[in-house]
Amino acid sequence: MITPNSSCEAGLRLPAGTIELLSKFAQLGLARGFDPLQAQAKERSHRAFDNARRIYKRGPAGVWPTGSSNILKLSSLREIKKNIENKFIVADQKFYKLWSKKIGLAEQRVFLVDARESKKSFEVAAEIAQAAADSTEWVALGGGLTCDLAAFAASLLQVNISFVPTTFLAAVDACVGGKTGVNLLGIKNIAGSFYPADQVHIFPKLFETLSDYDYFNGATEGLKLLLLQREHDEASRFWACCLARRTSNETVVSLAKNKARFIQTDTHDQAKRSLLNFGHTLGHLIETTSIRKNQPEPIGHGASVLFGMYLELKFLGRPTNFLEAFLKDRIKADTRFAGDLERVKKMPETFLSLGPLINDKKNKNQKIGFSATQENPECFIHYFEKETVTSFIQSSWKTELESLTCKN
Ligand SMILES: NC(=O)c1ccc[n+]([C@@H]2O[C@H](COP(=O)([O-])OP(=O)(O)OC[C@H]3O[C@@H](n4cnc5c(N)ncnc54)[C@H](O)[C@@H]3O)[C@@H](O)[C@H]2O)c1
Ligand SMILES: [Zn+2]
Repeated sequence: MITPNSSCEAGLRLPAGTIELLSKFAQLGLARGFDPLQAQAKERSHRAFDNARRIYKRGPAGVWPTGSSNILKLSSLREIKKNIENKFIVADQKFYKLWSKKIGLAEQRVFLVDARESKKSFEVAAEIAQAAADSTEWVALGGGLTCDLAAFAASLLQVNISFVPTTFLAAVDACVGGKTGVNLLGIKNIAGSFYPADQVHIFPKLFETLSDYDYFNGATEGLKLLLLQREHDEASRFWACCLARRTSNETVVSLAKNKARFIQTDTHDQAKRSLLNFGHTLGHLIETTSIRKNQPEPIGHGASVLFGMYLELKFLGRPTNFLEAFLKDRIKADTRFAGDLERVKKMPETFLSLGPLINDKKNKNQKIGFSATQENPECFIHYFEKETVTSFIQSSWKTELESLTCKN
């Protein structure tokens, strides 16, 4: 096992001291692409400084080349095998156990990833790099965690990588758009890069073995894409199929391409791409708060974003009556969200600190960023003082959620 920091850094071809500097940047709460003058002179003269700044919150605008992935629909397990043969495979461990025999992976060189956020780390990225030896053709076979992690290592080593997403969320979200990342000091994706996979091979049959929890995380991201594009009828049909866990190959590929269109003109997340964070400012707050000690199961990313979208519409007070009614009906109609709703309602009473929002990459000048809920070239992110957000949480959070309670 590789231990921090120096052997990790060597394995990932980073100068010694890079990880320590990243930790400092995070502790100082620096913004993405921060002005180098904000750091101390002694840190700026450090050999690792430029590298750390390049990957801290995925670096300043324009440090990574632009590009996009080729999104392809597969129609059989045999096609998966054909596309990954003779490549170095980084696979989700759970997926591998369930599917490797069916796909016929047994004889290939594989690095297995235990898909837990604590493993989305520099250490495991360095282990992947070590296991790959001199292979320059990689494939990640897994959910968003495996793909983010493997692609981060691939970006530092400058090798080719392609993806076979095995979760719904990876197919419609994580595998599209080139964002890679690892966690550090418990902060999600605090280091990363923009490194689109060469190809993304989509085959939704692989989602059959997902838990409901993981399935709905992906379904919500798909719904969000359709809502942002004002595809309201399509959104209703899509959600009905998701409830029955029947999403076609064509639908998933089309959602992935939908996401790709958001990114085309804004690869490095400076403008239109920000819209994809709709529901995620308050969604992340809910998700992170639910992961506290002594809490029951965490509230899934999907459910958190669903509540987050509704609350953000209320908070922003934008003219989006249809969206609001749409989300309200969907949440009220489905008993699977009822338990989570009760927990979310009580969060301000028990514990809801803005802490998790402070490092959000959308923030600027100490203000908290919320994605716009519709396309408006003049404003993709709205900024608010912390006090304004706190006041909404204290005075309106619970009452706004009350209207989502199913009375029957
Ligand atoms: N790069 C991006 O743009 C982007 C976007 C969204 C999320 N993400 C990242 O993606 C990660 C979440 O991705 P995820 O939801 O795919 O979760 P995940 O990769 O953690 O997988 C979820 C669970 O499903 C299991 N699993 C994977 N495939 C399976 C299958 N076919 N059958 C049964 N079990 C299977 C995994 O072992 C894991 O337990 C987070 O780390 C997040 O930061 C990245
Ligand atoms: Zn999301």
